[in-house]
Amino acid sequence: MKLILSKASKIRGEIKVSGDKSITHRGLIVGSIAEGITILKDYSTCDDCMATMEIMKKLGTNILKNKATIRIEGKGLHGLKEPDDILDCKNSGTSMRLLSGLLSGQNFFSVLTGDSSLLKRPMKRIIEPLRLMGAKISGRENDQYAPLTIKGGNLKAIDYKLKVASAQVKSAILLASLYVEGNTSVTEPSQSRDHTERILNLYGAKIESSKDKITLKDKNKLKGKEISIPGDISSAAFFLVLASIIKGSRLLIKNVGINPTRTGILEVLKTMGADISIKIERNKNYEPVADLIVKASKLKSIKIFGEVIPKVIDELPILAVAATQAEGVTEIKDAHELRVKETDRIYAIAAGLKKMGAKIEEKPDGLIIEGPSTLKGNICESFNDHRIGMALAIAGVLAEGKTQLLESECIDVSFPEFTSILRRLCGADHVYETN
Ligand code: S3P
Repeated sequence: MKLILSKASKIRGEIKVSGDKSITHRGLIVGSIAEGITILKDYSTCDDCMATMEIMKKLGTNILKNKATIRIEGKGLHGLKEPDDILDCKNSGTSMRLLSGLLSGQNFFSVLTGDSSLLKRPMKRIIEPLRLMGAKISGRENDQYAPLTIKGGNLKAIDYKLKVASAQVKSAILLASLYVEGNTSVTEPSQSRDHTERILNLYGAKIESSKDKITLKDKNKLKGKEISIPGDISSAAFFLVLASIIKGSRLLIKNVGINPTRTGILEVLKTMGADISIKIERNKNYEPVADLIVKASKLKSIKIFGEVIPKVIDELPILAVAATQAEGVTEIKDAHELRVKETDRIYAIAAGLKKMGAKIEEKPDGLIIEGPSTLKGNICESFNDHRIGMALAIAGVLAEGKTQLLESECIDVSFPEFTSILRRLCGADHVYETN
């Protein structure tokens, strides 16, 4: 499938982005090992979350999905069963890494696999701590890559220092810690998203977090809950940038999750001069949520590095698009992790934007982008990476002439509603799909 895009004029109106992908994964996993019923409202229907859902079913959980809700009949901490077959995480790193932790706590054998992209992503980072805890876990090429085989059970507590700020690795360790005697701690080099800590606390566990150390203190029985999942700020990011750039735009984005470990995009865009206001805030205990209003404004360059990087890691491709329209030289540093996402995102976004006429230079750990430049439509590859695809689609509606985005179906991996929202905002002549 191809997405054809051309320059749009002002963006006005109101949108609601779909449920947060990270929280939906965690709701499916924690709901399955809790006692009683969990209801997930406003969940994400994206391919990644559906991969986790199918795996939880293969592990014995009854899960009923309808349009409005997912209903999970929790099996309790020790109720999962050995799957009959290998478990396919498809494109989803979150599924593979979180489930490795969960499966390390299970006294049975399982195998996790994924698509060609996931089979190239680093897995030693989870194998190391989970093995220290006592899991028998191995991977291909000397434990670097999946498929992973896991025989869990008999785990012990560890005090582990993460080498990279990764919520997926932290969460794998915390999920495995539900199955150990004693308290496991994880120390992060800088803070990553804390959705696992929040959902475990909500379900009745006790997690203490100091600045950089997280300790699972009490593994009380987890109790099923009804939870509403906030809109995904990583999905909202594409429209925050779009409406900031196109003159005369004003957009209301309703019900967006504003967990402080995820709002780096708001900080960065505001520093660049974006006009974003938080209208109504609610739901403070579990995950904070707000309506955001964004109006067009003149953007200026910025340096993005250090502690903010884990808080904007998924938004860096769309921030690179924003930087092409900002006055001055934007520098992104300390973002080596971007090279090991669904594709090498430093290479992929530089390649796409360069083709469209941007002044963008790759660095080992980031990008240098000189703006503003007039983007010109071209044939661009998504590299089968959802966030590269969506970032280049936004570039496509900012550019002169026509852009063809190849393999645009990858967008469904995180945000299946993206194209229809973009089409509604920009007009059907400016955004359409063809084969
Ligand atoms: C995620 C954590 C991040 C992020 C990914 C989702 C999560 O990955 O990039 O999209 O839900 O825990 P890392 O843990 O590799 O930083």
